[in-house]
Amino acid sequence: MKTLSVIATIFVTGIVLVSCDHVRRSPGHLYMPDMFISRAYETYDQRDSAQFTTDISKAGEKIFYNNMPVAGTIARDEDLPFPLSQDKPGDTTNYIASKLIENPEAPLTAAEATEMHRLYLINCGICHGAKMDGNGPLYNGGNGPFSSAPKNLLGDPIVSVMPEGQMFYSIQYGKNMMGSYASQLSRKQRWQLVHYIKAIQNKTKKLPVSPADVADSTVLDNIKL
Ligand code: HEC
Repeated sequence: MKTLSVIATIFVTGIVLVSCDHVRRSPGHLYMPDMFISRAYETYDQRDSAQFTTDISKAGEKIFYNNMPVAGTIARDEDLPFPLSQDKPGDTTNYIASKLIENPEAPLTAAEATEMHRLYLINCGICHGAKMDGNGPLYNGGNGPFSSAPKNLLGDPIVSVMPEGQMFYSIQYGKNMMGSYASQLSRKQRWQLVHYIKAIQNKTKKLPVSPADVADSTVLDNIKL
Protein backbone atom coordinates (compact mmCIF):
# COMPACT_ATOMS: atom_id res chain seq x y z
CA MET A 1 0.00 0.00 0.00
CA LYS A 2 2.85 2.29 0.97
CA THR A 3 4.68 1.48 -2.29
CA LEU A 4 1.50 2.17 -4.20
CA SER A 5 1.13 5.66 -2.72
CA VAL A 6 4.86 6.38 -3.36
CA ILE A 7 4.42 5.32 -6.99
CA ALA A 8 1.23 7.40 -7.25
CA THR A 9 2.98 10.48 -5.79
CA ILE A 10 5.94 10.12 -8.19
CA PHE A 11 3.52 9.64 -11.10
CA VAL A 12 1.42 12.72 -10.23
CA THR A 13 4.52 14.88 -9.58
CA GLY A 14 5.92 13.71 -12.93
CA ILE A 15 2.74 14.68 -14.77
CA VAL A 16 2.65 18.08 -13.04
CA LEU A 17 6.29 18.78 -13.97
CA VAL A 18 5.88 17.61 -17.57
CA SER A 19 2.73 19.67 -18.06
CA CYS A 20 4.56 22.83 -16.98
CA ASP A 21 7.38 22.51 -19.51
CA HIS A 22 6.56 25.51 -21.70
CA VAL A 23 3.84 28.00 -22.53
CA ARG A 24 1.44 26.39 -24.98
CA ARG A 25 -0.30 28.87 -27.21
CA SER A 26 -2.00 26.36 -29.43
CA PRO A 27 -5.42 25.35 -28.15
CA GLY A 28 -5.01 21.91 -29.76
CA HIS A 29 -7.96 20.56 -31.69
CA LEU A 30 -11.18 22.57 -31.75
CA TYR A 31 -14.51 20.89 -32.28
CA MET A 32 -16.71 23.25 -34.33
CA PRO A 33 -14.22 26.17 -34.31
CA ASP A 34 -16.86 28.69 -35.35
CA MET A 35 -18.51 28.12 -32.00
CA PHE A 36 -15.31 29.28 -30.25
CA ILE A 37 -13.90 31.84 -32.65
CA SER A 38 -16.75 33.87 -34.05
CA ARG A 39 -16.22 36.63 -36.59
CA ALA A 40 -16.30 40.04 -34.98
CA TYR A 41 -18.63 42.63 -36.47
CA GLU A 42 -18.79 46.28 -35.54
CA THR A 43 -22.32 47.20 -34.51
CA TYR A 44 -23.20 49.85 -37.08
CA ASP A 45 -20.71 48.86 -39.79
CA GLN A 46 -21.72 48.33 -43.37
CA ARG A 47 -22.13 44.60 -44.07
CA ASP A 48 -20.82 42.89 -47.18
CA SER A 49 -23.90 43.16 -49.43
CA ALA A 50 -22.93 39.97 -51.29
CA GLN A 51 -23.61 38.02 -48.12
CA PHE A 52 -25.90 40.14 -45.97
CA THR A 53 -29.21 41.85 -46.57
CA THR A 54 -31.25 44.26 -44.49
CA ASP A 55 -34.31 43.51 -46.64
CA ILE A 56 -36.43 40.92 -44.87
CA SER A 57 -37.99 39.78 -48.18
CA LYS A 58 -34.51 38.61 -49.36
CA ALA A 59 -33.87 36.76 -46.11
CA GLY A 60 -33.91 33.35 -47.84
CA GLU A 61 -31.17 34.27 -50.34
CA LYS A 62 -28.75 36.05 -48.02
CA ILE A 63 -28.16 36.41 -44.31
CA PHE A 64 -30.74 38.85 -42.99
CA TYR A 65 -29.06 41.19 -40.55
CA ASN A 66 -30.55 44.51 -39.56
CA ASN A 67 -28.23 46.13 -37.06
CA MET A 68 -30.30 49.25 -36.50
CA PRO A 69 -32.46 49.76 -33.41
CA VAL A 70 -36.12 48.86 -33.98
CA ALA A 71 -37.90 51.89 -35.48
CA GLY A 72 -39.83 53.93 -32.92
CA THR A 73 -38.11 52.38 -29.90
CA ILE A 74 -36.21 54.38 -27.30
CA ALA A 75 -33.22 53.01 -25.44
CA ARG A 76 -33.27 52.87 -21.64
CA ASP A 77 -32.60 56.23 -19.94
CA GLU A 78 -33.33 58.00 -23.20
CA ASP A 79 -36.77 59.07 -22.08
CA LEU A 80 -36.78 62.66 -23.34
CA PRO A 81 -36.50 62.59 -27.13
CA PHE A 82 -35.26 65.77 -28.76
CA PRO A 83 -38.44 67.25 -30.23
CA LEU A 84 -36.84 68.43 -33.48
CA SER A 85 -35.69 66.21 -36.31
CA GLN A 86 -32.61 66.93 -38.41
CA ASP A 87 -33.08 69.56 -41.14
CA LYS A 88 -32.95 68.49 -44.78
CA PRO A 89 -29.87 69.88 -46.61
CA GLY A 90 -30.28 73.61 -47.24
CA ASP A 91 -33.03 73.97 -44.63
CA THR A 92 -32.33 75.48 -41.21
CA THR A 93 -35.86 75.58 -39.77
CA ASN A 94 -35.26 73.09 -36.98
CA TYR A 95 -31.74 74.37 -36.26
CA ILE A 96 -33.17 77.86 -35.65
CA ALA A 97 -36.14 76.50 -33.67
CA SER A 98 -33.75 74.53 -31.44
CA LYS A 99 -32.76 77.82 -29.74
CA LEU A 100 -36.02 77.70 -27.80
CA ILE A 101 -35.52 74.26 -26.30
CA GLU A 102 -34.38 74.29 -22.71
CA ASN A 103 -31.90 71.95 -21.12
CA PRO A 104 -33.99 69.31 -19.30
CA GLU A 105 -31.12 68.05 -17.15
CA ALA A 106 -30.71 69.10 -13.52
CA PRO A 107 -27.78 71.39 -12.63
CA LEU A 108 -24.47 69.52 -12.49
CA THR A 109 -23.15 68.29 -9.17
CA ALA A 110 -19.40 68.53 -8.50
CA ALA A 111 -18.94 64.90 -9.54
CA GLU A 112 -20.95 65.40 -12.73
CA ALA A 113 -18.98 68.53 -13.66
CA THR A 114 -15.74 66.55 -13.25
CA GLU A 115 -17.18 63.76 -15.39
CA MET A 116 -18.23 66.25 -18.10
CA HIS A 117 -14.72 67.70 -18.11
CA ARG A 118 -13.44 64.16 -18.73
CA LEU A 119 -15.98 63.46 -21.49
CA TYR A 120 -15.24 66.82 -23.10
CA LEU A 121 -11.51 66.01 -23.25
CA ILE A 122 -12.19 62.56 -24.74
CA ASN A 123 -14.82 63.50 -27.32
CA CYS A 124 -14.40 67.18 -28.13
CA GLY A 125 -10.98 68.35 -26.93
CA ILE A 126 -9.18 66.65 -29.84
CA CYS A 127 -10.73 69.26 -32.16
CA HIS A 128 -11.99 72.11 -29.95
CA GLY A 129 -8.90 72.01 -27.74
CA ALA A 130 -8.48 71.23 -24.05
CA LYS A 131 -8.84 74.98 -23.45
CA MET A 132 -11.98 75.14 -25.67
CA ASP A 133 -10.09 77.55 -27.93
CA GLY A 134 -10.85 75.70 -31.17
CA ASN A 135 -7.28 74.54 -31.56
CA GLY A 136 -7.09 70.90 -30.52
CA PRO A 137 -4.36 68.53 -31.76
CA LEU A 138 -6.45 67.33 -34.73
CA TYR A 139 -6.63 70.88 -36.09
CA ASN A 140 -3.42 72.34 -34.65
CA GLY A 141 -3.65 75.76 -36.28
CA GLY A 142 -4.34 74.22 -39.70
CA ASN A 143 -1.31 71.87 -39.56
CA GLY A 144 -3.19 68.89 -38.14
CA PRO A 145 -4.94 66.10 -40.07
CA PHE A 146 -8.39 67.73 -39.69
CA SER A 147 -8.52 70.70 -42.05
CA SER A 148 -11.80 72.34 -41.04
CA ALA A 149 -11.40 74.90 -38.23
CA PRO A 150 -13.38 73.80 -35.15
CA LYS A 151 -15.25 76.63 -33.44
CA ASN A 152 -13.59 78.44 -30.55
CA LEU A 153 -16.19 77.55 -27.92
CA LEU A 154 -15.15 80.44 -25.66
CA GLY A 155 -14.15 83.17 -28.12
CA ASP A 156 -16.45 82.69 -31.12
CA PRO A 157 -19.03 85.53 -31.12
CA ILE A 158 -21.89 83.18 -32.01
CA VAL A 159 -20.98 80.00 -30.14
CA SER A 160 -20.01 81.81 -26.93
CA VAL A 161 -23.62 83.03 -26.58
CA MET A 162 -25.29 80.09 -28.29
CA PRO A 163 -28.52 78.93 -26.61
CA GLU A 164 -28.21 75.50 -25.01
CA GLY A 165 -30.88 73.89 -27.22
CA GLN A 166 -29.00 74.90 -30.35
CA MET A 167 -25.71 73.61 -28.99
CA PHE A 168 -27.47 70.32 -28.28
CA TYR A 169 -28.86 70.28 -31.84
CA SER A 170 -25.33 70.52 -33.28
CA ILE A 171 -23.99 67.81 -30.96
CA GLN A 172 -27.00 65.60 -31.73
CA TYR A 173 -26.98 65.91 -35.52
CA GLY A 174 -23.50 67.35 -36.27
CA LYS A 175 -22.70 70.61 -38.03
CA ASN A 176 -20.97 70.71 -41.45
CA MET A 177 -17.60 68.98 -40.88
CA MET A 178 -18.37 68.09 -37.28
CA GLY A 179 -20.05 64.70 -36.96
CA SER A 180 -22.93 63.75 -34.72
CA TYR A 181 -22.10 62.65 -31.16
CA ALA A 182 -25.47 60.95 -30.64
CA SER A 183 -23.94 57.46 -30.60
CA GLN A 184 -20.90 58.23 -28.45
CA LEU A 185 -22.68 60.11 -25.65
CA SER A 186 -26.09 59.31 -24.18
CA ARG A 187 -28.84 61.92 -24.41
CA LYS A 188 -28.33 62.73 -20.74
CA GLN A 189 -24.56 63.12 -21.21
CA ARG A 190 -25.09 65.38 -24.23
CA TRP A 191 -27.35 67.72 -22.28
CA GLN A 192 -25.03 67.64 -19.26
CA LEU A 193 -22.08 68.46 -21.53
CA VAL A 194 -24.01 71.49 -22.76
CA HIS A 195 -24.53 72.58 -19.10
CA TYR A 196 -20.78 72.17 -18.62
CA ILE A 197 -19.77 74.17 -21.72
CA LYS A 198 -22.24 76.95 -20.86
CA ALA A 199 -20.93 77.14 -17.28
CA ILE A 200 -17.31 77.38 -18.48
CA GLN A 201 -18.29 80.01 -21.07
CA ASN A 202 -19.92 82.18 -18.39
CA LYS A 203 -17.08 81.68 -15.94
CA THR A 204 -14.51 82.66 -18.59
CA LYS A 205 -16.50 85.80 -19.42
CA LYS A 206 -16.62 86.56 -15.68
CA LEU A 207 -20.41 86.37 -15.84
CA PRO A 208 -22.41 84.66 -13.10
CA VAL A 209 -22.68 80.93 -13.80
CA SER A 210 -26.36 80.06 -14.06
CA PRO A 211 -27.58 77.90 -11.16
CA ALA A 212 -29.52 75.96 -13.82
CA ASP A 213 -26.17 74.75 -15.23
CA VAL A 214 -24.14 74.27 -12.06
CA ALA A 215 -25.96 74.72 -8.77
CA ASP A 216 -22.80 75.68 -6.87
CA SER A 217 -20.30 77.37 -9.17
CA THR A 218 -17.39 76.70 -6.79
CA VAL A 219 -17.33 73.16 -8.25
CA LEU A 220 -15.73 74.69 -11.34
CA ASP A 221 -12.75 75.91 -9.31
CA ASN A 222 -11.29 72.41 -9.35
CA ILE A 223 -11.45 72.19 -13.14
CA LYS A 224 -8.34 73.46 -14.83
CA LEU A 225 -8.65 74.15 -18.53
C1 HEC B 1 -13.48 66.20 -35.62
C2 HEC B 1 -13.43 67.49 -35.01
C3 HEC B 1 -14.53 67.89 -34.04
C4 HEC B 1 -14.90 67.23 -32.90
C5 HEC B 1 -14.29 65.96 -32.33
C6 HEC B 1 -15.94 68.01 -32.29
N1 HEC B 1 -16.21 69.11 -33.07
FE1 HEC B 1 -17.52 70.58 -32.63
N2 HEC B 1 -17.08 71.50 -34.37
C7 HEC B 1 -16.13 71.09 -35.27
C8 HEC B 1 -16.14 71.98 -36.43
C9 HEC B 1 -15.24 71.87 -37.64
C10 HEC B 1 -17.14 72.94 -36.17
C11 HEC B 1 -17.56 74.10 -37.06
C12 HEC B 1 -18.76 73.63 -37.85
C13 HEC B 1 -19.26 74.72 -38.79
O1 HEC B 1 -20.03 75.57 -38.32
O2 HEC B 1 -18.87 74.70 -39.96
C14 HEC B 1 -17.71 72.61 -34.87
C15 HEC B 1 -18.72 73.33 -34.27
C16 HEC B 1 -19.18 73.11 -32.98
C17 HEC B 1 -20.18 73.92 -32.30
C18 HEC B 1 -20.91 75.09 -32.88
C19 HEC B 1 -22.12 74.54 -33.59
C20 HEC B 1 -22.96 75.54 -34.30
O3 HEC B 1 -24.19 75.34 -34.32
O4 HEC B 1 -22.43 76.51 -34.87
C21 HEC B 1 -20.35 73.37 -31.05
C22 HEC B 1 -21.30 73.87 -29.96
C23 HEC B 1 -19.48 72.24 -30.97
N3 HEC B 1 -18.79 72.11 -32.15
C24 HEC B 1 -19.40 71.43 -29.85
C25 HEC B 1 -18.71 70.21 -29.85
C26 HEC B 1 -18.78 69.27 -28.76
C27 HEC B 1 -19.55 69.48 -27.47
C28 HEC B 1 -18.01 68.22 -29.13
C29 HEC B 1 -17.79 66.94 -28.37
C30 HEC B 1 -18.97 66.16 -28.06
C31 HEC B 1 -17.45 68.50 -30.43
N4 HEC B 1 -17.92 69.72 -30.84
C32 HEC B 1 -16.59 67.67 -31.12
C33 HEC B 1 -15.29 70.01 -35.15
C34 HEC B 1 -15.36 69.07 -34.14
